[in-house]
Amino acid sequence: MPAFWHWFVAAGTIVFVIWCIWLITWSAKQGPQNVADDDLVGHKWDGDIEEWNNPAPKWWLYLYFITIAWAIGYMIAYPSLGNYKGMLGWSQAGQYEAEMQAATENYEPIYEKFAAMDFVELSQNAEAQALGKSLFASYCTTCHGSDARGAAGYPNLTDDDWQWGNTEAELLTTIGNGRQAAMPVLAPALGGDAGIDNMVKYVKSLSGGEADAEAMSAQPMFMALCSACHGPDGKGNKIFGAPNLTDEIWLYGGSTETIRETIVNGRNGQMPAHGDLFGENRTKILAAYIYSLTQ
Ligand code: HEC
Ligand code: HEC
Repeated sequence: MPAFWHWFVAAGTIVFVIWCIWLITWSAKQGPQNVADDDLVGHKWDGDIEEWNNPAPKWWLYLYFITIAWAIGYMIAYPSLGNYKGMLGWSQAGQYEAEMQAATENYEPIYEKFAAMDFVELSQNAEAQALGKSLFASYCTTCHGSDARGAAGYPNLTDDDWQWGNTEAELLTTIGNGRQAAMPVLAPALGGDAGIDNMVKYVKSLSGGEADAEAMSAQPMFMALCSACHGPDGKGNKIFGAPNLTDEIWLYGGSTETIRETIVNGRNGQMPAHGDLFGENRTKILAAYIYSLTQ
């Protein structure tokens, strides 16, 4: 907080407290003008309820002073006057850190027990699976769906078709470091609409579509432009995250329109990194959970 605002807030708070003390003391001494104590004030409600000029009970007044004393004590103990940190040294961030520390101390022994376990064994351990499942529910379902079946652009993690692979090392990298897919914009290289249409047909022919003359006319182009990433047979390459184009499983979709869109506009799917959030042990538990989905 800049110095000006520190003083503004601190002085404002102190002046306000002093004003409260003055107001209560002053108003305790006030009564209606020209009316003796213990006499009727002259106000009447509902015909028969009348107001007497009695001072407020002393205990009521003391309550006010007690709350003010409490506030002053609070302001000395806790951060409440601008930049002043309070005598107890409490802070919101500090409380959060302490709670995180306590949680880590509680859970870390459990995670460590699993960290020492073999990956495949871990993927079959009921306790680890329950942990993995709850981590998945908290952090992954927004994109991959509560059943892990994904949606267009968000891969299905239950179908055993892996863009980036499902070995222990590959899953740890995917979840820990994230993945950035780069399918380039290739329309300009395909020589106009007819070239694009033929390439779409060729891609479809790889997964059982008709391999007619138009489709096959795009094969040399596929070898020149696409095979570096998708492989000469179109079966994909895990190093680039290039999907297998010969199965019936599509990340974005296998219709003529969608394949066309992929080739014309390119695709840049991004799986965010979670390593810093989870740490090594939880990343491994989650990777084993993902692995178990297709075993
Ligand atoms: C530089 C590497 C690279 C090249 C070259 C490349 N692709 Fe891709 N392609 C990818 C990647 C990576 C993806 C996945 C994109 C994603 O996950 O967002 C992809 C995705 C696709 C898809 C979507 C598959 C699905 O399941 O929805 C199609 C179709 C496709 N590519 C066709 C082609 C064709 C045809 C060519 C050549 C004209 C080509 N690609 C060239 C890397 C490449
Ligand atoms: C913000 C959305 C988002 C979140 C959150 C997210 N993912 Fe992903 N994930 C993606 C996208 C998009 C891809 C595909 C990247 C690409 O196109 O290559 C992906 C890819 C993957 C893959 C690779 C699939 C393959 O075929 O190789 C795995 C495994 C995965 N995610 C697991 C997870 C796990 C576990 C979590 C929870 C910690 C998670 N994801 C959270 C969006 C997300």
